[in-house]
Amino acid sequence: AHPLVFDCDTGIDDSLALLYLLAHPDAELLAVLSTAGNVPTDVVCANNLAWLALCGRDDVEVCLGATAPLVAELMTTEDTHGPLGIGYAELPPAPTPPSHRDAADAWIDLTTERPGEIIGLVTGPLTNLAIAIERDPGLPARLRRLVVMGGSFHHPGNTTPTSEWNIAVDPEAAQRVFAAFGHSGAPAPIICPLDLTETIVMTPDHLGRLAASAGSTPVEQPTPVDERGTRSVASRAVVRHLVDAIRFYFEFHADHDEGYIAHMHDPFAAAVALDPTITTTRPACVDVELAGTLTRGTTVADERGMWGREPNAAIATATDPDLFFDELIDRVAGLAAR
Ligand code: BDR
Ligand code: CA
Repeated sequence: AHPLVFDCDTGIDDSLALLYLLAHPDAELLAVLSTAGNVPTDVVCANNLAWLALCGRDDVEVCLGATAPLVAELMTTEDTHGPLGIGYAELPPAPTPPSHRDAADAWIDLTTERPGEIIGLVTGPLTNLAIAIERDPGLPARLRRLVVMGGSFHHPGNTTPTSEWNIAVDPEAAQRVFAAFGHSGAPAPIICPLDLTETIVMTPDHLGRLAASAGSTPVEQPTPVDERGTRSVASRAVVRHLVDAIRFYFEFHADHDEGYIAHMHDPFAAAVALDPTITTTRPACVDVELAGTLTRGTTVADERGMWGREPNAAIATATDPDLFFDELIDRVAGLAAR
């Protein structure tokens, strides 16, 4: 199994990415790191703990992380993800507290313990990783791979006309992280931008298939208990809560004239983290605009060597969304039905 560190701002689509990683037999989830973004860090952390507890996986370390971007004021987006970041889901609070170490230290410690082995996946602002790299500049070279959901290149932004949320929340962090890769043995991160993730369109049919194959029972009916006691009760609940979360996301997209669908940015990045062959990529030198009065937070890709700098990123460009959804549904339904 691939050891993996997941840094996120859970988040409805972050939630599904987390469940996918828990469900995937090839993923050894070492830690879930919480960062401020969709909702404040403590709420993100509570969500991460709650999903893990619900799945009977409180063995996975969950860390609190940055409470604010490096320089910018924190903005959150409860409109998109619901008052608590998980749509209409009301997860039972987890009995377990977060880890004693913070997210940046977890990045440093885990990559030090297993140099060259760990896959990093970031589906929120890059604040924690930027702090970790500032404390320990050798970190990027110790990663096996880094996959980032973020940015928008030949495509409109979703936060400003040209910027994508994860980068727009903390442009300085993104700028510093990208600058730290692509040289000194640090592998070029795979960036999954909006250009591609907005083609990963979940429909009610997908969600219905997921719920049906998880054997989801109506809320009023008792859920059978397996030989391990409460686990199956909790697992069946996973699908109910997931449906409640994603329903909110469908409505958000519908309110923005995109139809009753949802873009599954973060689960797609999670799938790429485990199997980069599901996407084509093109090399580029990626930087982040920090100064523009109209374009702050915009990712800029030099694909023609105009800056005379080495490529520091592989931008994900094309995939087969149907195959992706088939796999996602199978895996997550398997977890929820367990
Ligand atoms: C990104 O922004 C967040 O709201 C989503 O969770 C995703 O990571 C898409 O721009
Ligand atoms: Ca996210």
